[in-house]
Amino acid sequence: MNYIKKILSGWCAAGFAGTAAGVVGIAGIVGTVGVISAFTVASALPAYANSVLDGQMVFSAGHASLQHWLLPVSPEHPDDNKPTAARIALGKQLFFDPRLSGDSNMSCASCHHPSLGWGDALPTGRGAKSETLARATPTVINTGYNPIQMWDGRKKTLEEQALGPITAKQEMNMDLTVLLDFLKANKGYQKAFADAYEDQPLTPELVAKAIASYERTVISRNSHFDRWVQGDSGAMTAQQIRGFKLFVDPAKGNCSVCHSAPNFTDNGFHNLGLASFGDAKPDLGRYTEKPIRMMKGAFKTPTLREITRTAPYFHDGSASTLEAVMTHYIVGGVVKTNVSPNLKALTLTAQESADIVAFLQALESPFVEVALPQLPLH
Ligand code: HEC
Ligand code: HEC
Repeated sequence: MNYIKKILSGWCAAGFAGTAAGVVGIAGIVGTVGVISAFTVASALPAYANSVLDGQMVFSAGHASLQHWLLPVSPEHPDDNKPTAARIALGKQLFFDPRLSGDSNMSCASCHHPSLGWGDALPTGRGAKSETLARATPTVINTGYNPIQMWDGRKKTLEEQALGPITAKQEMNMDLTVLLDFLKANKGYQKAFADAYEDQPLTPELVAKAIASYERTVISRNSHFDRWVQGDSGAMTAQQIRGFKLFVDPAKGNCSVCHSAPNFTDNGFHNLGLASFGDAKPDLGRYTEKPIRMMKGAFKTPTLREITRTAPYFHDGSASTLEAVMTHYIVGGVVKTNVSPNLKALTLTAQESADIVAFLQALESPFVEVALPQLPLH
């Protein structure tokens, strides 16, 4: 434990200022100073330190040893893009506006739809002219907490990511000059940009910044599981608590080695031996960004928060239910070349597998209705 404390205090010194607001917010919910520091620090810990913390957990609602699973109140943001009400409101308009696409018929929300867990419920996305895309649409829920974006990690920040789908031929297929002409000619948008970014000239970068500010508000941190971690002993069923134990147990589910605290991701890349890796020309995933052998067919570990809302699963949409996902893990993958060393066949009874699924269901929070923004016509 001592060495963890060292990491913790080192990080506190370096990073505390940045999250002070978040810490104050959490204090109201969790209540004790001890808990706050454990939680604050955990979000910046490397996965291995989190698994040490997992090994010390006491499975009792509200126990101090569970607090590294709680997320900060809001994701961190770049210094030059502090969230304000005006930026978030503008970002929301842009996120839902189909006029940001070449055919004026597709917005971010066409694929990242709030009614469908901020995804599209399809095995793989449908883009411009209804063409089928190569990969599944990930949810944007909690993506603001992650330091790396996309299945292959080719983008880091949400600001870097946002213009990609707008300009991609297969997606929104929009020319940025045309987009800027449209926004500048639209009085409503002119005013919204002026309110949000004062004297800054309207550029594609500002479009991306506003969208990113909005995405950072799409968060899940009020699930049954979170409430149990915060001390509500009735928030999870006995079966869900058993499932959580199995989820973190290296000899059982071994899930949290990759789906680690607090956002159920290590932000790493792993080849899970999906059947599609056996295709003649498989999707090489992270390898296209980092050409080392380990990364062949490796994809980013997705968050599992709100996972009941985002079927089908995996980057190729090959598992339609959580039970199908469990079947895949129990056999330890289909195509065994280059699978992650952390992926092993599991010894789980049918009951234990069902317990893990029940736990995954506890990662759902009450549905948040999203009011559509009014879009400026001119
Ligand atoms: C045509 C469907 C489609 C549209 C439209 C679309 N996306 Fe996506 N989005 C995807 C797919 C598919 C991926 C994964 C692609 C990959 O990883 O190669 C993705 C990935 C992302 C990610 C990364 C999430 C993660 O966990 O790594 C973010 C963030 C995102 N999109 C935001 C947006 C924003 C903002 C817009 C609008 C400007 C948008 N998307 C428009 C389909 C779409
Ligand atoms: C070796 C790391 C690793 C382990 C161990 C692991 N996962 Fe995963 N998980 C991943 C990666 C990486 C993906 C995405 C892989 C892909 O699509 O190619 C994923 C995908 C998933 C998905 C689908 C998510 C989505 O949005 O499509 C679920 C559900 C899931 N895992 C649950 C579990 C459970 C439950 C366990 C334990 C029984 C587990 N995982 C063990 C790394 C891991």
